Amino acid sequence: MDSIVVTGGGELRGEIPIAGAKNACLALMPATLLSEEPLTLTNAPRLSDIKTMTTLLQSLGAEAASLQDGQVLAMSSHDLTSTRADYDIVRKMRASNLVLGPLIARHGHAEVSLPGGCAIGARPMDLHIFGLEKLGAEIDLRDGYLHAKAPNGLKGAEIPLTFASVGATENIVMAATLAKGTTVLTNAAREPEIVDLVQCLRAMGAQIEGEGTSRIEIQGVDRLHGATHAVVADRIELGTYMLAPAIAGGEVECLGGRLDLVGAFVEKLDAAGIAVEETARGLRVSRKNGRIRAVDVTTEPFPGFPTDLQAQMMAMLCTAEGTSELNETIFENRFMHAPELTRMGARIEVHGGKARVTGVNKLRGAPVMATDLRASVSLILAGLAAEGETVVSRVYHLDRGYEHVVRKLRGVGAQVERVKA
Ligand code: UD1
Repeated sequence: MDSIVVTGGGELRGEIPIAGAKNACLALMPATLLSEEPLTLTNAPRLSDIKTMTTLLQSLGAEAASLQDGQVLAMSSHDLTSTRADYDIVRKMRASNLVLGPLIARHGHAEVSLPGGCAIGARPMDLHIFGLEKLGAEIDLRDGYLHAKAPNGLKGAEIPLTFASVGATENIVMAATLAKGTTVLTNAAREPEIVDLVQCLRAMGAQIEGEGTSRIEIQGVDRLHGATHAVVADRIELGTYMLAPAIAGGEVECLGGRLDLVGAFVEKLDAAGIAVEETARGLRVSRKNGRIRAVDVTTEPFPGFPTDLQAQMMAMLCTAEGTSELNETIFENRFMHAPELTRMGARIEVHGGKARVTGVNKLRGAPVMATDLRASVSLILAGLAAEGETVVSRVYHLDRGYEHVVRKLRGVGAQVERVKA
């Protein structure tokens, strides 16, 4: 298995291009199942999760080709040969469950494996099921699969979510585009990836209002047509690379970065003493003089602080002046990076969903192991300012969500290399 070796110490200077959002792309790709006509996505990120979704769509009989070095995805679901999302694919990636809503809406039935456990928590699908049942789907769980059918088609409904789940909102919105009548989804997720999905569905002919607010109204239409859509910038990749100069010192411009995608995160950077400035091409981040200041962070649904940046933020706070409290409210088991950071000299105490980080002057490089995608990158970030060498193993997690991570960090002067096993 490959590992990434980081030699800490130097300041970072230069530019990092931000890719299209993994999480937006993973919701946009299944939207192809809603139409007989082709859907083309541009600005797609080159990631193994995108390949997994491509394989899943192909297993259903859709055409899905990756063009222009992977930045364009050309898909067509004219003739589907299957409506079954197999366990072998779904277990690799939970977002596979986003084919459920589109398949029931267009084909009247679907069999989708339950994703099973995930390193960061239980992650059930009850809200997806609740919403789709409200639309008239009948869903049973047998043999580890959700068997869903809608023999009489889907009908618009009022759907109050008890939690603003991103995936449930995406599945329900996609299904409702082809339902008869009006669907009103309340307590909907407001993430930029939902806004991006709705913009694409609208380009395909869907009638939707309210994306980006907690009330989304969908007027069902008989059919959707083809479209071409550019994937929104990845706010999590953006936040991750904004933390690189914050941790290591220096100044980096993140090309394609937008303040509206990372507002709550930037407020915390500001409180920690990190300067962020909008430029014509993105966001420029620099470390002001002196040590980083401790800040308290609570993860929340958008527009709050994203859980997907919590591990990386913790890496920065390990060397802050003072004690920071991190409160993880979205996933119950998302501090697995803490013991690894501790191996690098960090002082972290975890109690349930809360972590207290007392800043130390310097971290020291160590061999560490990543347990999930965001944890892996947090260890690389920590290594950038640590004394000596940090070797991060199990980097296949990184390939799921960060394209060319080594090339991007080397481009701003970091000493990072990937070592083949
Ligand atoms: C998406 C993102 C993921 C991010 C998460 C929260 C994708 C592909 N992944 O995941 O990177 O960390 O949003 O911002 O977009 N829940 C239920 N029942 C459900 C669904 C969810 O209880 O039916 C709970 C989950 O267990 C979790 C919380 O809701 O505690 C958030 O989950 P959700 O917003 O659905 O996240 P995902 O869509 O899985």
